[in-house]
Amino acid sequence: MTDSIEAADRRLLDAIQSFVADHPDPTIQHFHGSIADWGDRWVETPPRHLQAADTLTDCLALTAPETHDLTAAFDAEKSTRNWEQSYTSADNVVGDDMLAGYGFAEVIGKHGPFVSERVRAGIGVWGPHIDYPPHRHAAEEVYVVVAGSAEFELGEPVMRRAGEVVYVPSMLTHGFRTSDQPLAVFYIWQAGDLREKSSFN
Ligand SMILES: [Fe+2]
Repeated sequence: MTDSIEAADRRLLDAIQSFVADHPDPTIQHFHGSIADWGDRWVETPPRHLQAADTLTDCLALTAPETHDLTAAFDAEKSTRNWEQSYTSADNVVGDDMLAGYGFAEVIGKHGPFVSERVRAGIGVWGPHIDYPPHRHAAEEVYVVVAGSAEFELGEPVMRRAGEVVYVPSMLTHGFRTSDQPLAVFYIWQAGDLREKSSFN
C-alpha cells in the first residue's frame, strides 16, 4: 500500500472538520465557518519529531468517549507530523520543563499544511508537571481537552478534563498547569494574527 503525507494530512483535516461540525458546544460552533471554509491550498510540511509525539500515545488511555476518535486520528499520524514549539529558551518566557515536554502539530494555519489566513487548528501536547505561564494574544481561541487534564488559569483556576471545552476571548490572559497526567488539546484560533507571539506578563 502506498501512502503519502498529503493523504495523512487530509485524513486529519476530515477528522477535524467532522469533530467541529458535530460538536454541540456553541463556542466550538462559533469557529465552524472558519474550519469548514479554511482556504484552498495544501503545502507539504516535512515531519519533525518532538517528545510530545510520544507523549500523545500516553494520552490515548486518557481520552473521553467524545474525544477518543480525534485523539486516535492524531496519534495514528504522529510520525508524519511537523511537531513545533512557539518558544525557545532565548525568549525567556516559558521554563525548561515546558520546552522539554511540549509541542504542537498544526493541520490548518499560516504555514500549512492546509494554508489559511483565516483559521489555525491542530493538537497541542504537554507532559506531566508542566507550567504554561499566563499569556495573551489577539486571536480568539477555543481548546477542547481531548485527553488528560490540567488546571487552567482564566482569571481563576479551573480544572478541565478530557471532553471539556475552554473558550478564550481575544486578549484574555490564560495559562495552565499539568499535574500527574499529560494533556492533549485540540485548539482553534481565529480573528487575529495566526502566528502572533503571545505576550507574557
Ligand atoms: Fe492561547
